[in-house]
Amino acid sequence: MYALKSFANGFEYIEIQNSAAHAKIALQGAHIFDYVRSGSALLWLSETSKFEEGRAIRGGIPICWPRFGNLDKSLPQHGFARIFLFELIKVEEVNERLTQVHLQLKSSEISKKIWNYDFTLDIVFDISETLSISMKTTNEDAKEFLLTQAFHTYFQVKNIENITIEGLKGVEFLDTLTDTKSVENRALKISAETDRVYLGVKRDICLREDDKEVLIHAENSHSAIVWNPWIEKCSKMSAMQPEAYKEFVCIESANAFDDFRTLKPNERYTLSVEYRMQRS
Ligand code: BG6
Repeated sequence: MYALKSFANGFEYIEIQNSAAHAKIALQGAHIFDYVRSGSALLWLSETSKFEEGRAIRGGIPICWPRFGNLDKSLPQHGFARIFLFELIKVEEVNERLTQVHLQLKSSEISKKIWNYDFTLDIVFDISETLSISMKTTNEDAKEFLLTQAFHTYFQVKNIENITIEGLKGVEFLDTLTDTKSVENRALKISAETDRVYLGVKRDICLREDDKEVLIHAENSHSAIVWNPWIEKCSKMSAMQPEAYKEFVCIESANAFDDFRTLKPNERYTLSVEYRMQRS
């Protein structure tokens, strides 16, 4: 079953229920903000996040595109896709356990004022036992363009201080808080503000808390970002309660920093990710 719904202000989303999972996806930003399987929520959503035109939802999975981060000062932080309205191309109930949702953003006069390229961005969600998302960029322009991007996933956790993030041992990272590079030498635990870009990621990442684990499998990505604002920054962030930092961690599958891509005219590129929740 699925239905196109809207909040009182007209902000639209698709609600999906099949025998494997339940999900909600906003048309603005092709932004999934709820995915629940066997009574367990994968995604964190800020209690104070507003569902408003032109403002990114705080939580769920913002799509950072065509830029990750704020290195390119000519574009908004994390690009503009997360605040643009996507077109709903198709919802397909493939079988009772799999619903596929296809959303699309095409360049327009408005997007070209921000980023002067013709493009098509296709986001496809597979709502099933796992949550899979692909983002396909097509360069429809006569000139090549540079692309950095990410699934900026906010994972819900019970207590940030109890989690471990595995799969990054031996991977070099840039600590953007100190602007220094190091190599990860252990499973990561978080007990302070963390903002790291891991480069050369080759394995799946596992987020573990008690007996719950989330396996993160990305395709065509060699970079991952781990972010938690911790106490001070959290109290200053938009659409976030002061204590919210305890309830989430962002692990972002990306093409960021040195892992950027250049797309020639007519070239296509797909970044995809799969999340699997399980008990160990
Ligand atoms: C992370 C960045 O990906 O996103 C952080 O590494 C940033 O530096 C965070 O603060 C949140 O960004 P925004 O634009 O959603 O507030």
